[in-house]
Amino acid sequence: MGKKVTVVGAGFYGSTTAQRLAEYDIFDTVVLTDIIDGKPAGLALDLNQSRPIEGFETKVVGVSTGPNGEGYEAIEGSDVVVVTAGLPRKPGMSRMDLLEVNSKIVRQVAENIAKYAPNAVVIVVSNPVDEMTALAQLATQFPKNRVFGQAGVLDTARFTNSIAETLAVPVKSVKALTLGSHGDTMVPVPSRCTVDGKPLSDLLPAEKIEELVVRTRNGGAEVVALLKTGSAYYAPSAAAARMAKAVIEDSGEVLPVCAWVEGEYGISGVYLGVEAQVGRDGIKKVVEEKLTDTEIAGLKEAAEAVRAKQADVANL
Ligand code: APR
Repeated sequence: MGKKVTVVGAGFYGSTTAQRLAEYDIFDTVVLTDIIDGKPAGLALDLNQSRPIEGFETKVVGVSTGPNGEGYEAIEGSDVVVVTAGLPRKPGMSRMDLLEVNSKIVRQVAENIAKYAPNAVVIVVSNPVDEMTALAQLATQFPKNRVFGQAGVLDTARFTNSIAETLAVPVKSVKALTLGSHGDTMVPVPSRCTVDGKPLSDLLPAEKIEELVVRTRNGGAEVVALLKTGSAYYAPSAAAARMAKAVIEDSGEVLPVCAWVEGEYGISGVYLGVEAQVGRDGIKKVVEEKLTDTEIAGLKEAAEAVRAKQADVANL
């Protein structure tokens, strides 16, 4: 059987993720689903019609699903499922304000994934992502390595872009990192940031670095405030598609992702943004690197914030 990826949710995040995955031309099939009648089929047709121009062969299939799981047969045999279903925030909202409404959606989606694609690797992006990832694991009962969330690849890209713009250097000369939660307790990691191999602290004063850290933490809200309706999707979809690619290619590359931690940095039993090797079974291994004491303290604070909320989602 050919390689197959499903994207659940055909809104802005889901449709751009499907587009990127199709244009990679590494899957045989991209399935795009939504509860809205006709929308995924329309988007799929539109994407397929772009194939002769963009030059890719991946087939996109759009399917509308019903309240009792009708239509979910289409996801059978998926190697990877990206969950984007759920509401985005409005200006002034925090991601946590979406907890209740998105819990119901993600639980229902996860139960159908468990039923129809029991061997899939699941990448969750619906917000608040740390909690939704924990919920998806609970609802699928998949091994924890097979369920992980997208946050760090995006937050790192935002941090990288700000550093590159500030120093007027190409983005590719910048190496940056963010860990922790995808929210107020995000932990951008300046000690792991370099520009052409030079430590960021040699190039910018501490106050300026702190400004970039704060901007990274508020990166999503900055876009939401400008858009007025909906939230970011170009950089987020690039991040999610990149993670799905790492899975299907079994690349083993180390990416910052929301993964289950079991003792790393002295933290256990919680989904949290850490670096991990990503491959065919999802998370191959969480990678623990040297951080400053302040950064480790930030990570522990993020872990406790997420742990409290993750306990709540079990009952939502
Ligand atoms: N199953 C499938 N799709 C669903 C379900 C469900 N049970 N419930 C809602 N959806 C669909 C909606 O119909 C909509 O098309 O999810 C889609 C969400 O799309 P948008 O409103 O455009 O939101 P988007 O920007 O794509 O963000 C999706 O990602 O970044 C996060 O915070 C963001 O939680 C949000 C998610």
